[in-house]
Amino acid sequence: MKQKTIIGVVVLAAIVILALLWNTLRPFGPVSPDTTPSGTQPTTAAGSLPIPTVLEDLDSSSETARYSLTAQPGRMVFLAGKTTPTMGYNGSYLGPVLKVRRGETIRIGFRNELAEATSVHWHGLEIPGTVDGGPHQPIAAGGTWEPVFTIDQPASTLWFHPHVMGTTATQVYAGLAGLILVEDDNSRSLGLPDDYGVNDIPLIVQDRSFNTNGTFRYEDNMMDGAIGDYLMVNGALNPYLEVQPIRMRLRLVNGANASNYRFNLADGRSFVQIASDGGLLEEPVEMKELFLSPGERAEIIIDFSGYQSGQSVDFRTGQDGFMTFRIKGEATDSTRIPEILSSIEPLNEADVTATKTIRLDGMGHMVSLNGRQFDMDRIDDDVKLGDTEIWEITASRQMMMGSSGHPFHIHGTQFQILSRNGRTPPANERGWKDTVFVGTGETVRLIVRFRFAGLYMYHCHILEHEEAGMMGQLEVHP
Ligand code: C2O
Ligand code: CU
Ligand code: CU
Repeated sequence: MKQKTIIGVVVLAAIVILALLWNTLRPFGPVSPDTTPSGTQPTTAAGSLPIPTVLEDLDSSSETARYSLTAQPGRMVFLAGKTTPTMGYNGSYLGPVLKVRRGETIRIGFRNELAEATSVHWHGLEIPGTVDGGPHQPIAAGGTWEPVFTIDQPASTLWFHPHVMGTTATQVYAGLAGLILVEDDNSRSLGLPDDYGVNDIPLIVQDRSFNTNGTFRYEDNMMDGAIGDYLMVNGALNPYLEVQPIRMRLRLVNGANASNYRFNLADGRSFVQIASDGGLLEEPVEMKELFLSPGERAEIIIDFSGYQSGQSVDFRTGQDGFMTFRIKGEATDSTRIPEILSSIEPLNEADVTATKTIRLDGMGHMVSLNGRQFDMDRIDDDVKLGDTEIWEITASRQMMMGSSGHPFHIHGTQFQILSRNGRTPPANERGWKDTVFVGTGETVRLIVRFRFAGLYMYHCHILEHEEAGMMGQLEVHP
């Protein structure tokens, strides 16, 4: 009898240790089951927020980094008792964080263990076209790729995702997306919250639908692409994050295929945006609601010092909560938000060699860019290396019903917004951007400099629009 008990305890302990090990080895923390009938956002917190792990640099030198990244099929339990087939990088869903420094040269050993071709595009990185990871660099099932590039841009929150012809949208929907955090001397000197996983947390927000058997339901025939029933953050449904009453830096990524998000705190408190897609703004911008369209990122700081331990507040898009902050404990905070975050030299309009117009038309699968659909064998624009151009992007209002607008993105560069509908852009759009939302009927003028040579895409970041042909390609000639 006694022996049996001891064996039982040993077996139990082994199981617990194995389970703990398993969870620390996965790129994401445990996703607790939650019971929800399909169609409504769960109202009870499912578990604590999974935080993507920082990928280990396999190179000991401080000037270079080497990473190993694998796209692989996976399985997740998002809904109680149901398994969802997924795709992830180095894990089942989403991927690890590449934390890099300006000036560092990065070598990626990429392996495709999926049963289909993929590619890895570094969204927001200013790098040569040959390593951009667009549709011209597909990696066959079982294949490998080893791009090498140098980080040559300010501290920022960038991301990577597939960009292969015909399956970008479904692969992203299945879970393929990861983050790149660039640091530089300026970002580290400011005293901002920058302790990753402690007071510096990424939030990759997406929406997904499920079939009753737990598989993802990918519906791309809606007006504006694939919109899901459930909001997910870092691959979890309605998680909570325990925070001390201190300043928390949140790196928001709209990783949705098609949905726009309007981030706000349920109690209406304000927060501060410190960075846009391509880096820190010059000055912090206080706001109560932050709009991000697919592909866009923003870094914000929420100061929880105004809350008492034991309080909680929901983080939402519009009226829909997708996670809860639970304030806990007491703390002193040594971080700060300086009045000047960075200095951004405006691109000079006197240097402009060409002004181009881009017209985004249509909705659903009936979309076009300047009246035509993407053709991989056609180069739409030629640019000389180092040239500065003005691009005028319009989203036409031509049908009875149309898309609400298009997030316009250019590869391999960061741009500045000159005007939105003829007016100075809002304060939080005055920093570096690589994706800009152009609402129906709107015109956005941007100025862009092409610092690297090669073939690049520009497109609507509603992935279903991109797949349906709302994409062009430009070649930057040396
Ligand atoms: Cu997020 Cu063509 O990119
Ligand atoms: Cu991109
Ligand atoms: Cu679009």
